Amino acid sequence: MIALLGANGQLGQDLQQALHSQDPRPFTRKDFDVTDHDRARSVLMDLRPDVILNTTAYHRVDDCETHAELAYRVNALAVLNLIRIANELNAVLVHISTDYVFDGKASEPYTEKSDPFPLSIYANSKLAGELLVRTTAKKYFLIRTCGLYGGAGSQGKGGNFVETMRAKARRGEPIKVVADQVVTPTYTVDLARQIARVLPTGHLGLFHMTNEGSCTWYEFARAIFELAGLEADLSPTTSELYKTPAIRPKYSVLENARLKELGLNEMRHWRDALAAYLK
Ligand SMILES: NC(=O)c1ccc[n+]([C@@H]2O[C@H](COP(=O)([O-])OP(=O)(O)OC[C@H]3O[C@@H](n4cnc5c(N)ncnc54)[C@H](OP(=O)(O)O)[C@@H]3O)[C@@H](O)[C@H]2O)c1
Repeated sequence: MIALLGANGQLGQDLQQALHSQDPRPFTRKDFDVTDHDRARSVLMDLRPDVILNTTAYHRVDDCETHAELAYRVNALAVLNLIRIANELNAVLVHISTDYVFDGKASEPYTEKSDPFPLSIYANSKLAGELLVRTTAKKYFLIRTCGLYGGAGSQGKGGNFVETMRAKARRGEPIKVVADQVVTPTYTVDLARQIARVLPTGHLGLFHMTNEGSCTWYEFARAIFELAGLEADLSPTTSELYKTPAIRPKYSVLENARLKELGLNEMRHWRDALAAYLK
């Protein structure tokens, strides 16, 4: 049985679907806040799951710059508590991390063997969580992904990029999007199915899991309008002009290298995934 934390999130909701045959038990913040270590422990020790799947995060990237303690409480210390619980139960911990652990200085996709070097507080706190998992968890899947969007919309960020773009276009607003950050937008339905495919294989460890291909956020916005048949007043901008409190990597494309080595990569091209989402 799988304890699914963050079950109301965009990835969490799609995981509930994708894992339906593996007995997922959904938990939201209403059941327990992951930063309440005693409550998390008491709920999970009573349930005794075989797998603890953690999709929770404090991932308002810019707000993390001014709320570093909260970032570390949710993205690292709460993870340590979950690791200890999983270890005691001899359960597998599945934890989700981010492309932002890389500095973006590369010009070809990062593999699981690439060295992380985070640029922001958010990214540092997520890397701290990763390192705790890698050094402390007995049995784990650590999954890095990128640019998530899904039917539920990101709970933590108040909507996802696709919906934000569509709403702006419908309002007829001028839209400027950065054309100097290269990513792979990833549909949470595809990620959830890929996770469901990998869990039963027992191939533990670190995985990159994103849709295939890459684009700038500007190119992604253009594809959204094209595929949705929306007129939009869209123009490119730069990270220099569109300043944000947190520095983002210029290039954070992940290669699903391990999935490919194991013959498990089922991720489609980001454009096909976007078309499926928009349908
Ligand atoms: N979104 C992206 O672009 C992206 C990119 C790379 C990696 N990731 C990683 O992917 C994972 C899933 O992201 P997502 O987009 O699905 O996020 P999401 O939609 O915001 O879902 C996260 C869920 O976690 C819950 N949560 C947050 N803090 C909590 C806490 N202290 N206690 C209990 N529940 C808490 C949220 O509940 P509330 O609604 O009550 O806050 C929300 O339901 C995260 O680990 C994130 O770091 C995301």
